[in-house]
Amino acid sequence: MTKKFEDTVVLIAGAATGIGAATALAFAKEGATLVLTTHKKPADEVAAQCLELGAKAASTVLYDVAEEESSKSLVATIVERYGKLDVAFNNAGILPVTADLVDQTTEDFDWTIAADLRGVFFAMKYEILQMKAQGTGGSIINTSSVAGVIADPGMAPYVAAKHGVIGLSKAAALEVAKDGIRVNAISPGLVETPMTAGWLSQKFFQDWLPTWNSFGRPARPEEIAGIVLYLADPANTFTTGQNFLIDGAQTAH
Ligand SMILES: NC(=O)c1ccc[n+]([C@@H]2O[C@H](COP(=O)([O-])OP(=O)(O)OC[C@H]3O[C@@H](n4cnc5c(N)ncnc54)[C@H](O)[C@@H]3O)[C@@H](O)[C@H]2O)c1
Repeated sequence: MTKKFEDTVVLIAGAATGIGAATALAFAKEGATLVLTTHKKPADEVAAQCLELGAKAASTVLYDVAEEESSKSLVATIVERYGKLDVAFNNAGILPVTADLVDQTTEDFDWTIAADLRGVFFAMKYEILQMKAQGTGGSIINTSSVAGVIADPGMAPYVAAKHGVIGLSKAAALEVAKDGIRVNAISPGLVETPMTAGWLSQKFFQDWLPTWNSFGRPARPEEIAGIVLYLADPANTFTTGQNFLIDGAQTAH
């Protein structure tokens, strides 16, 4: 039986854990060829799991979103290995220290913007150049956050960066639609991943959870993966320039 993504080369940034890892496993079941990136330790275990689940191929690359050269060489490496790039999930990110704006340092602000916003700009630049050169279209999905739509106190740099990711995605979508390249953002609410483990282990946060969203719990990473596969699917040719909230109705009221 034909699998949905068996002729598809998919880049997943931030793939060792959390949302990226869950999405890699979901693509693997559909036969994709996967390139999994992390910035410190290669995502070898996830790559092995992907192969067991049915990925056509799965390999890893170390890459730093904050460095333009790293994005450029990542795309070159993918093309060298697999000949093309069809889908890019720009999902790497950091959660900075929680502090009021007046207590944030310039270094905290700059680093958050570099990792969470500028990295998406670098990534899209080289992904789009490659997709245009191929002439076969493609799909780019950028991870924003509910913090890209609403604000929380103590998170000004992250909120600014994630709002920026949505703007960047919309602007790019307008420029590349005629090349058959679609660009969308996804905005998860609270998800149980290494990024939020510190929050979720705290009593005051656990007391808060029942009213956080309509389920009273964080999402599991695999509950975010489905929207990424939907947006990657070339059948959804008219879906571009949008932001998709997956937040358990957190922002519905
Ligand atoms: N967990 C949540 O509640 C939540 C909610 C909304 C949005 N998000 C976003 O989802 C994305 C994935 O986060 P997650 O929750 O799965 O956490 P995670 O910590 O499991 O994943 C983050 C990934 O980003 C990578 N990364 C960090 N800095 C990098 C750098 N400089 N260069 C390259 N890669 C780097 C890490 O290697 C890691 O794989 C992030 O963009 C995050 O902001 C998370």
